[in-house]
Amino acid sequence: MGEAVIFLGPPGAGKGTQAKRLAAEKGYRQLSTGDILRSHIARGTELGRKVGPILDRGDLVPDDLILELVKEEIAAMPAPRIIFDGFPRTYAQAEALDRLLAELGVELRGVLLVDVPREELIKRLLGRAEAEGRSDDNEATIRNRLAVYEEKTQPLVEYYARTGSLKAIDGLGSMDEVWARIQSALNNGRLP
Ligand code: AP5
Repeated sequence: MGEAVIFLGPPGAGKGTQAKRLAAEKGYRQLSTGDILRSHIARGTELGRKVGPILDRGDLVPDDLILELVKEEIAAMPAPRIIFDGFPRTYAQAEALDRLLAELGVELRGVLLVDVPREELIKRLLGRAEAEGRSDDNEATIRNRLAVYEEKTQPLVEYYARTGSLKAIDGLGSMDEVWARIQSALNNGRLP
C-alpha cells in the first residue's frame, strides 16, 4: 500500500523547499504541479504554450489539464509514496484526488498546512525574483497569486480539517526549524 502527503499553503510558504527535503530524506517522490508546468513552458510544448500566460498572470490552470498531468505522473510511479506539492488547489482537484487515492489504495498520511504571514510571503517571493528571475515573482502577479490562493485554495483547509488529516505547521523561522516541525507533525507530535 502506498502513502501520500499533501503540502498546502500560500505561494512562498516554503512548500517546495520542504517537499524536496522530505522526498530526499524519506524516500518519497515529489509531485509538484508547478514544476511540471514550468518544465512544459521551458520545453515549449503545446501545453507549455497554452499555460504560460496563465502562470504569468498568477491564475490557476484549468482543473481538467491539471488532473490529466497528475494521473500521468502517478501512473509512471511503481510504488506510490508521493508528496503532492501545490496540488490540490481547488475543491474539484481535492475531490478527484480523494477518488484517485482510493482507487490506488494509497493512504493519505497528512495534509501539511504551511502557515506564513502575508508580508513575509511577499518578501520571500520578491527575493526569489531577484535571485532566480521566476516570471511570476513580480509584485502584480504575486498579489494575484495570493488573492487566488485565498479564494480558491484556502477553502481546502476546512475540507481537510473535517477529515482529521490537517496538520498546521508554523512556516516562520529557519528552514531547519520548519523541517523539524514537519517531521514532528508526521510522527504525530513525537520529535524526529
Ligand atoms: P507553484 O509552482 O505551485 O507556485 P506557488 O504555489 O505559488 O508556490 P511557490 O513555489 O512560489 O512557493 P512555495 O510555497 O513552494 O515556496 P518555496 O519553497 O518555493 O505554482 C505556480 C503556478 O502554476 C500557479 O500560480 C498556477 O498558475 C500553476 N499551478 C500549479 N499547480 C496548479 C494546480 N494544482 N492547479 C492549477 N494551477 C496550478 O519558497 C519560496 C522562497 O522562499 C524561496 O526563495 C525559498 O528559498 C524561500 N524560503 C523557503 N523557506 C524559507 C524559510 N523558512 N525562511 C526564509 N526563506 C524561505
